[in-house]
Amino acid sequence: MPAAVKRLLVVNGPNLNLLGTREPEIYGTTTLAEVEAMVREHAARMGCEVTCFQSNSEGALLDFLQREAPGSSGIVLNPAAFTHYSYALYDCLKALRIPVVEVHLSNLHARAERERFRSRSVTAPAAAGVITGLGPKGYLLAMEYLLDRDE
Ligand code: DQA
Repeated sequence: MPAAVKRLLVVNGPNLNLLGTREPEIYGTTTLAEVEAMVREHAARMGCEVTCFQSNSEGALLDFLQREAPGSSGIVLNPAAFTHYSYALYDCLKALRIPVVEVHLSNLHARAERERFRSRSVTAPAAAGVITGLGPKGYLLAMEYLLDRDE
């Protein structure tokens, strides 16, 4: 029997809908639609399915993850500012028991020199790992990890 096609979720949190115009000196000029197009092309190349989702609302992110994660093989998550304070998102990721890679476009450690709150991720302990500072390519690398992972 052929192996089942794997499905990944690529989830973006608040203000990432503004990519392209939001602080381009930090986040670049690539829009969210362009990032998602790169993600879909990469999924097609790797022979997996992908569902992309973005919300500015913590509740909507939780509802999406609780609904869609069962049956998926992994989650690429940029929690945006929720990274720094959402225990609800942390609890959700722990409850789902599906591998998560946390992705940040910017380098949180470099930014923490000026904005200390960025040095702490409350969600990262629930993730397999974190990619930070590699721009949109971080999402593609996270997808590769989740598809290659043995489990
Ligand atoms: C971000 C970094 C967060 O600190 C910030 O709140 C974001 C985006 C990033 O992708 O670099 O909204 O997650």
